[in-house]
Amino acid sequence: MKEPVFLPVSLREKGYSLVWREETGSTNADALEAARSGHHAPCWFVAGKQASGRGRSGREWISPEGNLYASLLLRNPCEIAVASQLGFVTGIALHDAISRLTGMAAPRLQLKWPNDVLLDGKKLVGLLLEAQSMGSDTNIAIGCGINVTHRPQGVPYSVATVNEVAPVVTIADMFEALSLAFDSVFSFWQKSSGKSATQRFAPIRSLWLERAAGIGEAASLRLPQGKINGVFAGIDGLGRLELQTDKGMQLVDAGDLFFPGFIV
Ligand code: BTN
Repeated sequence: MKEPVFLPVSLREKGYSLVWREETGSTNADALEAARSGHHAPCWFVAGKQASGRGRSGREWISPEGNLYASLLLRNPCEIAVASQLGFVTGIALHDAISRLTGMAAPRLQLKWPNDVLLDGKKLVGLLLEAQSMGSDTNIAIGCGINVTHRPQGVPYSVATVNEVAPVVTIADMFEALSLAFDSVFSFWQKSSGKSATQRFAPIRSLWLERAAGIGEAASLRLPQGKINGVFAGIDGLGRLELQTDKGMQLVDAGDLFFPGFIV
């Protein structure tokens, strides 16, 4: 592949590093495997393509050349009780980075609970957080798959690419913007470490809700035990989905959210 990515000098000076591979199985797997061998963190693992990209809920993430596959390895970034907040932190960073490069903002560019970025209602980014314990340490891989050039085929939803609104943006541009935006939102979130989980989440929650897709819209939630229909009311102080149903407000930790009027 002709175009490797570069880590901004300001991030190298803050202790971040980068491992680039033309091709790999999964950058999340690379990050967690490196962590098991004592690799230092924070480190970005980035690949030109993935042979076995991992999606949420055990799904495959189709990963041809032309899109960005980047996983950040963090070691003990926070208490386990607030680790899921990292998904919202990263979602805001992804939104900011893509917005900076494309000029897009909400409502065209939106976040969909829990972890997707949508462009015009179509999936642009998938995010997968994975954690592993190693002795008293917790390693976390934050994996981001961003459709820059290529629109993956054979997926059960509509997809968008960065290049359809910003044709000259490259994966190198995307990685630079993402790595800087992540550090900025993460540093902001880290300033509130030591506070309670809800106090920590409050400013991130506001930023997330400003960018959220489908608030007040009819929605259905697919869970392993079945489907629940209702109205997407927002997220609570811990990031749980609030679904207003005919049985009252339901709070949900994890699941797949669908909006009938949306394409995703
Ligand atoms: C989703 O299902 O929406 C999440 C997809 C996450 C894909 C990214 S690509 C980089 C990283 N490596 C993986 O194997 N998965 C994540």
